[in-house]
Formats: sequence, C-alpha cells, structure tokens
Amino acid sequence: MKVVAFNGSARKDGNTAILVNAVFDELKKAGIKTELVQLAGKKMHGCTACAKCWEEKDQRCVITNDFVNDCIDKMVEADGIILASPTYFADVSTEMKALIDRAGFVAMANDAMFRRKVGAAVVAVRRGGAIHAFDTMNHFFFINQMVVPGSSYWNVGLGLLPGDVKKDDEGLATMKTLGENMAWVLKKLNK
Ligand SMILES: Cc1cc2nc3c(=O)[nH]c(=O)nc-3n(C[C@H](O)[C@H](O)[C@H](O)COP(=O)(O)O)c2cc1C
Repeated sequence: MKVVAFNGSARKDGNTAILVNAVFDELKKAGIKTELVQLAGKKMHGCTACAKCWEEKDQRCVITNDFVNDCIDKMVEADGIILASPTYFADVSTEMKALIDRAGFVAMANDAMFRRKVGAAVVAVRRGGAIHAFDTMNHFFFINQMVVPGSSYWNVGLGLLPGDVKKDDEGLATMKTLGENMAWVLKKLNK
C-alpha cells in the first residue's frame, strides 16, 4: 500500500513538510509506503473550465505543459492521498488550489476515479485561517467519494518560520494520531 502527499508550500522543507513527515512516520511503522511530492517551484496552472476532461475521459487534464498530470498519475496509483498546505490568506496556496480544481475535475469526469481511496488534509499556520484551508482540501476528498479518517483535533500545526511546528507538541500529536488512523483505515479497506 502507498500514500502520496502533496506539499503545496513554497518552502520545500518548511512546517508543512515537517507535519506531513510526522504522519508518514506512523504510516511507515505500519508498513505503508510513502512519497512526498513538492509543488514548490512547479508550474501549476489553474483550471481553464474547458471541460475537455468530461469529453476525453482518459484520466488526464488537457493542459499537458505543467506538473498537474504527473500529480494525477501519482494519485491514481496511490491507496491514500494527503493534501498538505500552509495557510496563505486564510486558505490553501495557489499551487494546491490548482491541483484541487484540476485533479478534482478530472476525477469527477472519470467516474469518481478516486472513490474509496483514503484522504487526509494537513495544514501549517501561523495564527488564523487554518480551518478554512483544511475545509478547502477536505472538499476535494468528499466530492470524490473518498474515506477521510479523523484525528484528536483538526489536522493543524502552528508555526511561522521553518521548523517552528516542532515546538507545537499538540500539533505533532495530532499528526501522529492521524497517521495511526489513516494506516488503520487503509488496512481495513485493503484486506
Ligand atoms: C503569502 C502568505 C500568506 C500567509 N497567510 C497566513 C494567514 O492567513 N494566516 C496565518 O496564520 N499565517 C499565514 N501565513 C504564514 C504561514 O501559514 C506559516 O508561516 C506556515 O507555517 C508556512 O508553512 P511552510 O513553512 O510549510 O511554508 C502566510 C504566509 C505567506 C507566505
């Protein structure tokens, strides 16, 4: 089994990546493979609403000169998908939103192709707006008929500068529990 995580931060090794790795630690302990995909520096165009994915139905976006189809391929192959983002103006990063809109539309156009995969959202935040970002990513999972495990709190870690989330004990504990619950659900679904 495999879980792929997409880090929407402009900082590859910042707080969002640290939180994802805390989830990964528990998945790895359960024998689940993990892959962290960094969106930083990648070209990620927004959805152009051409609706070609609803005509072609080939599990691809018609825009082929950026990174989104690579991400979609990784989502298709994985059993679990983590969407992780810093909070930017009380929402996800631009790159993460482009991924949500395009991968989400392609999935809907292809007979709910992520149906019953396991999904989890992870958010880094300095102070405010994390729940809005968390909701934005959860919308992707729920509209795609995915299974979303919970944790002991919403999946949020607090910090401003890279590494600050390491001081947020409750945030890290939330990621640990999320990893345990994600592994548990994956094993139940893939018996
Ligand atoms: C463009 C931009 C907008 C931000 N907006 C918010 C915000 O609305 N609320 C907040 O608490 N922090 C905000 N922050 C701070 C980041 O969410 C915070 O530093 C986070 O830990 C960054 O995660 P990273 O290290 O993975 O990039 C913003 C940072 C940037 C660069």
